[in-house]
Amino acid sequence: MDVIIDTSKFLGKFLYYFLESLSYKIIPKRKKNVAGEIVLITGSGSGLGRLLAMHFASLGATLVLWDINEEGNMETCRLAKGKGRAKVFAYKCDCSNREEVYRVADQVKNEVGDVTILINNAGVVTGKSFLDTPDHMVERSFFVNALSHFWTCKAFLPAMIKANHGHLVCISSIAGMVGVNSLVDYSASKFAAFGLAESLFLELGIQNKTEIKTTIVCPYFIKTGMFEGCTTKYPFILPLLEQDYVAKKILNAILEEQVYLIIPKFAYFAFLLKQIISPKMMIVLSEYLGVDTCMSSFKGREKENELETETEREHQ
Ligand SMILES: NC(=O)c1ccc[n+]([C@@H]2O[C@H](COP(=O)([O-])OP(=O)(O)OC[C@H]3O[C@@H](n4cnc5c(N)ncnc54)[C@H](O)[C@@H]3O)[C@@H](O)[C@H]2O)c1
Repeated sequence: MDVIIDTSKFLGKFLYYFLESLSYKIIPKRKKNVAGEIVLITGSGSGLGRLLAMHFASLGATLVLWDINEEGNMETCRLAKGKGRAKVFAYKCDCSNREEVYRVADQVKNEVGDVTILINNAGVVTGKSFLDTPDHMVERSFFVNALSHFWTCKAFLPAMIKANHGHLVCISSIAGMVGVNSLVDYSASKFAAFGLAESLFLELGIQNKTEIKTTIVCPYFIKTGMFEGCTTKYPFILPLLEQDYVAKKILNAILEEQVYLIIPKFAYFAFLLKQIISPKMMIVLSEYLGVDTCMSSFKGREKENELETETEREHQ
């Protein structure tokens, strides 16, 4: 008898949520109002972080900008303040350093208040083949791209839980859903970030903290400079994405409280295929799409490369 009741309940809820998701395809969800929310963006000194800061500033949110690059972050701060009514606070913070994250987080709580939207966006890429990647660069990828998310969530989630109000945003990558050659450390760290965000989303749901939302973002290559030199074989299937387009998509996903955002849409299909076709078929498909050679001409950020060589020299 229990099995019948249980199964009926399951089928009822399953059908309800299926129809709900279908209805959102026809009538888009109402966008939430973020005026007055305290939005913290890590890695706000350039690229997506800067563009997201501009959007949230225009919507009247209070901004907390974190970056290891003080100069870039101050520029974002200046640009965001130019958007009118936004209050903007910039902090230098190395997100890979746990103590620093907790220290600057306390400073933010005292000087600005409790963060209500946390966007874990800071990221680094090595772009070398596995055996050419120095150990400290592997560690750096994990510290910045994955472990920092643990520290920021631990610092700001308790206040969100207390208020049963908040939003955690994880900027992962398509490389966080499918492995990519010459991106072994990056891909592994992005899988970790994805896993943390998805598991925490489920944990909060089970604890009935349904007003703390989660958004997990997985884009393909974006023209921000981070993946300078990377190529795509068939741009009409897997285009190199414009940063303005991606930032708008992310903003929209946050405002509509979408849990997953994968860009471009073709990647949803590739991800589904990965589960059903054989690994050899998957390799043939990635060769056809040029994914196997996309990193061959990778240059990345010149400045970051110089920093890497300095750090490498220090380690020699
Ligand atoms: N550019 C792409 O093709 C692409 C694709 C998929 C996902 N992403 C992800 O999107 C996010 C934003 O990337 P982007 O393209 O805007 O790159 P970006 O290089 O323009 O921005 C990254 C920012 O992170 C900051 N940062 C790096 N290490 C830090 C640290 N230890 N502490 C604090 N800040 C630090 C950098 O200073 C920089 O301002 C990253 O997480 C990246 O992995 C990018």
